[in-house]
Amino acid sequence: MESFLIKGGRPLCGEVTISGSKNAALPILAATLLTQEPCVIRRVPDLSDTRFMVQILQSLGATAKLENGTLTVCARKIKGFADYDLVRKMRGSICIAGPLLARLQRARISLPGGCIIGARPINLHLKGFQALGAKIKIEGGYVEAVTKKLRGATIFLGGRAGPTVLGTANVMMAATLAKGVTVIESAACEPEVVDLAKFLNAMGARIEGAGSPTITITGVSKLHGAEHEVIPDRIEAATFMIAAAATNGEVIIKGARADHLRAVIDKLNEARVTVETRGETLVVRRRGKLKAVDITTLPHSGFPTDVQAQMMALLLLAPGISIITERIFESRFMHVSELARLGADIEIEGPSAIVKGGKALSGAPVMASDLRASAALVIAGLAAKGTTQVNRIYHLDRGYEQMDAKLRKLGAHIRRIQEK
Ligand code: EPZ
Repeated sequence: MESFLIKGGRPLCGEVTISGSKNAALPILAATLLTQEPCVIRRVPDLSDTRFMVQILQSLGATAKLENGTLTVCARKIKGFADYDLVRKMRGSICIAGPLLARLQRARISLPGGCIIGARPINLHLKGFQALGAKIKIEGGYVEAVTKKLRGATIFLGGRAGPTVLGTANVMMAATLAKGVTVIESAACEPEVVDLAKFLNAMGARIEGAGSPTITITGVSKLHGAEHEVIPDRIEAATFMIAAAATNGEVIIKGARADHLRAVIDKLNEARVTVETRGETLVVRRRGKLKAVDITTLPHSGFPTDVQAQMMALLLLAPGISIITERIFESRFMHVSELARLGADIEIEGPSAIVKGGKALSGAPVMASDLRASAALVIAGLAAKGTTQVNRIYHLDRGYEQMDAKLRKLGAHIRRIQEK
């Protein structure tokens, strides 16, 4: 297994270009199953998750090739069930269910496992499919949805933690080929849902209201091929913004969308980090000593849960008490114990982490546990004195394209090594 070896204490300076959004690309790749015609998707990030999704499309019978960030795919003839092992390994693959159900009137996929940040149920996805007229069966680790014909319906998709992003994506995709009109209430408003709707409409779907809590889909008889460029990854952009602030550097972030990052920019400003917006470029630098701030993660356009861990790493450097409350997932503080190895003083009280910031961090070996927790450990290592080894960075490679190369280009001392 591979690790990152980081020598901390060097400010990040220079320019970095943000890759395409992993969380937009995964449902968009799944949406190509909705048509027999070829599709071309650009700015697909080269990640283990996107490569996995391409394998899943191929295992379903589609021809798919991802080369230099462009995916050419054609799902002319496909089958309704995916390889158990492939689907079980990646949560994001659940979003092939909606397209398969719409295209073939049946979908059989392995139940996605939970993961380290929470149980990750799919009850809302299944509620949506049932409302559209599918019969659901769960047995032997598989979930099977079958229907004669999907019919439009009005569906409330809010759950115990608010809307569901991939649940909204799944039901929206299934509804594109349903007979009649579907209204999704309490829909997720994330930019990734908007990007998916844009691609579906380019394929001939009739979707209105994406980005708002109410999405209306008027079913059509078939969808045609289309081309699309994936939006930039707002979580990667936020990660580099925070790394710039944590190392007291000055970083120019190209290809980022400030309109996707309002809550993050607002919180960084409050913490005395300046984010200057120049079109699709953000310039990030600190304004003197960092200030402790409180964060609560919320559905979009609130503060994104996928930036919570990275922000915690930054707030270790802000003198005083910062309270970070995680409202989306039930156990998304796996990074806390590892940050403590670097000298962090954090106490967990239920859904909140109380960060006592301002203590100097010193390098140590730490273990990555999930995608965004790993990013937090890298940020803390960049800011710490001495050397930090982040082990099991396969977690990072799932969601960050060439993170080490991008950080080296900004002056970081970071190397990828084989874990001894
Ligand atoms: C997407 O996951 C993202 N993944 C996650 O990013 C992100 O953290 C999450 O949305 C929330 O923004 C992808 O897009 C591939 P949810 P998703 O359904 O859609 C509960 C990353 O780091 N829920 O919005 O699976 C669920 O347990 C990843 O890039 C139900 O109760 O998340 C959670 O508490 C991590 N029933 C809340 O809703 C359901 O049927 C939000 O989950 C579905 C979800």
